[in-house]
Amino acid sequence: MITCVVAMDEQGGIGLNGSLPWHIKEDLIHFRNMTLHHTILMGKKTFLSIGKALPKRRNLVVTHHPELLKDEKNLEVIDDIETFFKENSNSEEMIYVIGGAIVYAQALPYAKYLAISHIKGTFTCDTFFPHFDDNDYDIIKIETFEAFVFKMYEKKQ
Ligand SMILES: NC(=O)c1ccc[n+]([C@@H]2O[C@H](COP(=O)([O-])OP(=O)(O)OC[C@H]3O[C@@H](n4cnc5c(N)ncnc54)[C@H](OP(=O)(O)O)[C@@H]3O)[C@@H](O)[C@H]2O)c1
Repeated sequence: MITCVVAMDEQGGIGLNGSLPWHIKEDLIHFRNMTLHHTILMGKKTFLSIGKALPKRRNLVVTHHPELLKDEKNLEVIDDIETFFKENSNSEEMIYVIGGAIVYAQALPYAKYLAISHIKGTFTCDTFFPHFDDNDYDIIKIETFEAFVFKMYEKKQ
């Protein structure tokens, strides 16, 4: 199964200049707790923004240029994302797609869950989560934090 994990502001903004537009420690802890000991999949730009494989997780990176990442440790490269999603969308194992926008757009048709931290306010952003229709999802969990509201969306059958 596929879950997209994202933090977005009130306008759907998720990134600026290759980084996160905010620093919200509580959300980073929430992200860590959700993904720890699981498989995470990210685009090459998101990997570069993090700078290294995240510990205690299976790190998958999608790129057209696997040779540029060959010296990275604890990383597996994926070059055919569509086949990957087709093979894993019904798997028992949860795959967490952690961005960015280019990868979320490709994951959305296959994702059963969206784990969204709705950051309060608006920020200057140059990267946005792709459009999705709330009506296609049930909200199955809501948690309120100081700087954001976390909602878990499940795609309707
Ligand atoms: N707020 C959040 O929750 C959140 C989460 C993640 C990221 N972000 C932010 O989002 C921004 C990055 O997002 P982005 O959309 O620009 O980039 P991205 O999705 O992280 O990475 C895009 C790159 O991934 C590779 N890629 C994507 N689809 C592919 C495919 N089908 N086959 C092969 N390679 C593929 C390509 O790399 P090559 O060019 O190497 O082929 C492409 O240039 C940053 O600002 C980051 O901080 C925010």
